Amino acid sequence: MNLNDQVRQFWEAEVCGTSADLIGQFEPYSRAWYEAIEAHRYAAEPFIHAVAQFTRYRGLRVLEIGVGAGSDHLQWARAGADCYGIDLTDAAIETTRQRLALYGFSSQLQRHDAETLPFADGFFDIVYSWGVIHHSQRPEAIIAEIQRVLKAVGMFIGMLYQRPSLVAWELWVRHGLLRGKPLRSLHDILWHHMESIGTKGYTVAELRSMFAAFKACQIDPYLTEQDLRRFPKWLRAYVPRAWGIFLALRVVK
Ligand SMILES: C[S@@+](CC[C@H](N)C(=O)[O-])C[C@H]1O[C@@H](n2cnc3c(N)ncnc32)[C@H](O)[C@@H]1O
Repeated sequence: MNLNDQVRQFWEAEVCGTSADLIGQFEPYSRAWYEAIEAHRYAAEPFIHAVAQFTRYRGLRVLEIGVGAGSDHLQWARAGADCYGIDLTDAAIETTRQRLALYGFSSQLQRHDAETLPFADGFFDIVYSWGVIHHSQRPEAIIAEIQRVLKAVGMFIGMLYQRPSLVAWELWVRHGLLRGKPLRSLHDILWHHMESIGTKGYTVAELRSMFAAFKACQIDPYLTEQDLRRFPKWLRAYVPRAWGIFLALRVVK
């Protein structure tokens, strides 16, 4: 089975961000379920709004790659964007489709692997992708496709995982050090123990070189709950942001 088939199998089993452990027990696809997903997401990752800035792109054509449960897709729709979305899984597409319909919105959604985007050159004003590209077998192919489908003045907004980061080091302690395998690299640890198989993490310099064909690339690290969970509350404010697992990007074509 190739890597993206395994990635697909993993995310088909449970749509990202919908686990009952995170959001509590609700009837799937009900309004209460979707609202619990939304409440949990923006409580855990409030900085998404500062990075995505959904409301600045009213009337523009936005493609979201890897819609997952559709939380951010709903924000794009609410903000008045002309929405398109893809995901590797039927589960994500159906969850997002029903979610938008519940609130009276729609989007052109389809299941597709982002390594080849089914859109014409220069079609989108914005391509958005939060926590997706690092799961794919060929992230560079996705980035090349993003560049192709963006208009000349288009913009990519998104997030990829950072290596090293506190989350990566914690996984290394658990799956490397404590199992007598301290020489396992962070790359290998993320690949095998961070969500679907084959997950990658990048340094800021690596991301800059992956987006080198773009004009300008702003990269900001963010700490997440998962980075901070081993720290006592009083210490959290002093942990450097640069150690966070999230690298948020705003990239001008
Ligand atoms: C960690 S979830 C993130 C979902 C959503 N963006 C969010 O932030 O909640 C990763 C999603 O990316 C999708 N995905 C992974 N590889 C993909 C690919 N090559 N093409 C399209 N979607 C992909 C998965 O199916 C999954 O829904």
